[in-house]
Amino acid sequence: MATLGFIGCGNMGGALARAACKSIPSDQVFLANRTPEKATALAEELGCRTADNAAIAESADFIFLGVKPQMMADMLADITPILEKRETRFILVSMAAGLTIPRIRELAGKDDYPVIRIMPNTPSAIGEGMVFYDCSENVTKQEEKLFLESLSGAGRLAPLADHLMDAGSAVAGCGPAFADLFLEALADGGVACGLPRALAMESAAQMMIGTAKLMLETGKHPGALKDAVCSPGGSTIQGVRALEKAGFRGAVMEAVIAAYEKGKALR
Ligand SMILES: NC(=O)c1ccc[n+]([C@@H]2O[C@H](COP(=O)([O-])OP(=O)(O)OC[C@H]3O[C@@H](n4cnc5c(N)ncnc54)[C@H](OP(=O)(O)O)[C@@H]3O)[C@@H](O)[C@H]2O)c1
Repeated sequence: MATLGFIGCGNMGGALARAACKSIPSDQVFLANRTPEKATALAEELGCRTADNAAIAESADFIFLGVKPQMMADMLADITPILEKRETRFILVSMAAGLTIPRIRELAGKDDYPVIRIMPNTPSAIGEGMVFYDCSENVTKQEEKLFLESLSGAGRLAPLADHLMDAGSAVAGCGPAFADLFLEALADGGVACGLPRALAMESAAQMMIGTAKLMLETGKHPGALKDAVCSPGGSTIQGVRALEKAGFRGAVMEAVIAAYEKGKALR
């Protein structure tokens, strides 16, 4: 059984730690955070253990790097001497937007460390995440299997080549924020039409879940699913007209491309 150590337990590291505790025994999961109280509170909630960065670098089989991309260099600089001295096998798991496998290796001080680059999203916390991953050439099939088992509680896991990771990140990693804007706006619209706020939020969210599941489970194109809602001369097509007039689809595409460009610039 592998041990997982999380360095950085913020929004994303914390979400993955939750997923890990659903996938493997929680006493195999260790949490460290710059503000230790955050790790302590989460560990208490999940029934896992706390540690510090050095202890995780010394002993975890999978070392999850959960700090912001801009903080990665400083955090890794502190643990580089420990990693260098390690005699046991370990794998660095980076979730940082924009940082490629070669860049992670460079920051960690060795160009042949085994690395798994992942691009998760926050719904991983409740088992409905999308997690892209790419293994460096020296991660074995057995280790990949162990990694997938350890994060199986996160949701869907899919391999994605390193050079496409920024694109995957822009859609699924940043996407929850775009979806949240849409949800909030839907609910605001409902409130403007007289729905109580709580009901407007709940119905918007359930509609989003249902629509996404309908697409995944039927395999139908979203355009076809949209057509099925738009009765000729009906009210939905008027809403579609309003969205098209406001440039909705172009705005969403621009959002994805803006996030993609920023991801590439983080290197
Ligand atoms: N948020 C997302 O939806 C998302 C999606 C995909 C990928 N990511 C990636 O996930 C990573 C983390 O992002 P986030 O949104 O989770 O950021 P966050 O909420 O700010 O979490 C970062 C955490 O790292 C801790 N930290 C900073 N320096 C540290 C150090 N030297 N040692 C130990 N802990 C340290 C911070 O501690 P404090 O409590 O002291 O601030 C904080 O809890 C980023 O690389 C990001 O690109 C995020």
